[in-house]
Amino acid sequence: MTPRSIAKLGHPILLTRAAPIADPDSAEVQELIDDMRATLAQAQGLGLAAPQVFRSLRLILALPIAERGERPDAEPLALVNPELTPLGDTMEAAFEGCLSIPELRGWVPRYRRVGYRALDRRGRPISGEAEGLFARILQHEVDHLDGILFPMRMSDLRHLAFTDEVHHLARWMAQEGNQA
Ligand code: NI
Repeated sequence: MTPRSIAKLGHPILLTRAAPIADPDSAEVQELIDDMRATLAQAQGLGLAAPQVFRSLRLILALPIAERGERPDAEPLALVNPELTPLGDTMEAAFEGCLSIPELRGWVPRYRRVGYRALDRRGRPISGEAEGLFARILQHEVDHLDGILFPMRMSDLRHLAFTDEVHHLARWMAQEGNQA
């Protein structure tokens, strides 16, 4: 359980499609999962994808929480080779951050509900449904496996802000009726 360093925006591994994991139960993948858990805990993030710790493999961690601040002791779910399916057409926008893009937040539309299928860390199939923040985290992390970062999902780049300016931007967006 050793925290690893986190790739930052500009490192090409974040723009690379990650490879499927053939053997989740291997010692290498088990160590990677444990180290990613330590990395996520240290960074106090909501999710983490293996490419962010310089391993181009289809593995994510996601905190299964519906709202920010809920269950601060929640254990992250480890999903190997995850696949998402939107449930319904409803999209929701919210401010989102990324451990690879520190200090910035962007207003990002995501599906409100998604289904997920994956293998757990022992290689057993798991599936479920997620909504709200958990669905957002899953979409953000699976995007990492396809080389997609949250600014690439934004519909209006004016809605990108430093964390300590977000409240100013949010007020402006509400005034302008500009939250599309
Ligand atoms: Ni991220």
